[in-house]
Amino acid sequence: MTKTDTDIRNQPPPVEMITVKIDGREVSVPKTTPDPLTGKPIPTTMIQACHAVKVDVPHYCYHPKLPVAGNCRMCLVEFGTPAMGPDRKPILNPDGTPKIAKSPRPAIACATPVSPNMEIYTNTPGVTEMRKSVLEFLLINHPLDCPICDQAGECKLQEYSVDYGQAQSRFVEQKVHKPKRVDLGPRIVLDDERCILCTRCIRFTKDIVGDDALGIVNRGSYNTLTHYPGKPFDNNYTLNTVDICPVGALTSKDFRFKMRVWFLRETKSICTSCGTGCNIVMGSREGIIHRYEPRENDAVNACWMCDYGRLNYKWINRADRLSEVRFKDADGTQVVGSWATAVRELSQRFSTIPKGSAAIIASARQTNEELYLLKKLADKLGAMTDSIPRQGEGDKLLLNPDRNPNTNGSQLIGIGSRPLGQKIPGIAEGIRNGTIKTLIVFGEDVTKHGVGADLLAKLELLVVSDILPSATVLAANVVLPGTAHAEKRGTFTNVKGRVQRFLKAVEPPGNARPEWEFLHEIVLNVTGQNGFASIEGLFNQMAKEVPAFNGLSWAGLGDLGASVPI
Ligand code: SF4
Ligand code: SF4
Ligand code: FES
Repeated sequence: MTKTDTDIRNQPPPVEMITVKIDGREVSVPKTTPDPLTGKPIPTTMIQACHAVKVDVPHYCYHPKLPVAGNCRMCLVEFGTPAMGPDRKPILNPDGTPKIAKSPRPAIACATPVSPNMEIYTNTPGVTEMRKSVLEFLLINHPLDCPICDQAGECKLQEYSVDYGQAQSRFVEQKVHKPKRVDLGPRIVLDDERCILCTRCIRFTKDIVGDDALGIVNRGSYNTLTHYPGKPFDNNYTLNTVDICPVGALTSKDFRFKMRVWFLRETKSICTSCGTGCNIVMGSREGIIHRYEPRENDAVNACWMCDYGRLNYKWINRADRLSEVRFKDADGTQVVGSWATAVRELSQRFSTIPKGSAAIIASARQTNEELYLLKKLADKLGAMTDSIPRQGEGDKLLLNPDRNPNTNGSQLIGIGSRPLGQKIPGIAEGIRNGTIKTLIVFGEDVTKHGVGADLLAKLELLVVSDILPSATVLAANVVLPGTAHAEKRGTFTNVKGRVQRFLKAVEPPGNARPEWEFLHEIVLNVTGQNGFASIEGLFNQMAKEVPAFNGLSWAGLGDLGASVPI
């Protein structure tokens, strides 16, 4: 692909690099970094320079996506800058290198810009001593309740105490006691005694969400975090404060005391509750999903996600999940059958039905790969296809009004109309007038979207794949139990055209199978086209055949996905 003038114009200007020395190692770091709020270039700070070359600087209040507060002092480092002569020119060593004048005072690395030839020292005895002192101050009033704290295992105070803490406290006075179990809002509980007053939660909710809901009241060691009087902390992004709170002060009502975090298996995935496709990590244990947390992707969600999407996972664990293949027998009862029979019989039926007598309603909650296979089937059957639109309220931050995770995938592959749902009335009419005798439905209760139970009753064959019971499932001649995205691998194309992959976290219930697996078998039998026995192979084949995905590969998507024109 050659670069057009527009491509070149849209490229960010090259960032000027400067040379600094970190712990004796000469490194090159960007002179400026984008401001987390405006994106405009601002001077790179010492902590950013250190992190760019993988040198850890302990910190609490600093967060790369928030404005700097500089209040915890944990990031103190020693440093030196080129010494200047009376002529304001650098004094040189005999070997021609600039002579460095070590600053008599340390600096907070999160708020001090780097300058050319600066030397930063992060591991001197002096720095270690400062870290120990800062921790001692922070722990003066902190309760010793790690064993019962939900943050244990992912707590920065706990981690740095191991590195710099003292075995015994020199503090003999009474600790200041503050409110515990404060109901901050519908989803958050605050333990004020654990709060180290870093203000990350305050800055996040004010500067990122635009809801000036939290603040610190009282003075000195009585400083206390609280919400605005009479106004519960309740916006759609509150649970991000639990993620960024470096200690166990803020806990999620949904997750607290449910699970020790070190038992959780982490799987990279995507939120499916709207078209944004926030990158997430699923935490699961023994086949049960326990939480979603955001995963950093600057092209999609930075490191945030909304509360609505974060808490919309419980349906995966529902007890009434469809788990068996079922066939409707002569008296109308659905009885359990096998996958082998279902694949064989459906392949035979689809191979013999007259062209144009079938329709496919495929969900825009399905993956690109599944929709691609359904499109192959649709082409063979001459079937009319569409997907159901799903709309809600959006906001200015992440939540998109399109509540389908894969509207673009459905449209780019050629299943869904633009806008979605245009062809549903035509499909209903086809059933009504007897032209459409076979209906294949994936992941939708079509009785709520214009194809009522009376129409379904007129069909000769209704094949339904879903994961939860519905009126459409009840009416089906053949039920194929499918899987939640947590139970398979695949890709979605988000509202901005970013193709993103997700991985499998847990096993599906009973005999439920990933849709792409059984669709592959049916498509192979009906069309004779093979070549995709794995999800990687299937994606790569789709990328070759579907023009919008040309040039992509499963491996090339990586963890952060790739953008396609929409
Ligand atoms: Fe910082 Fe947590 Fe306290 Fe908020 S609650 S100020 S994030 S320690
Ligand atoms: Fe999920 Fe959308 Fe919320 Fe992101 S914004 S967490 S994709 S519902
Ligand atoms: Fe620098 Fe808190 S991280 S002062």
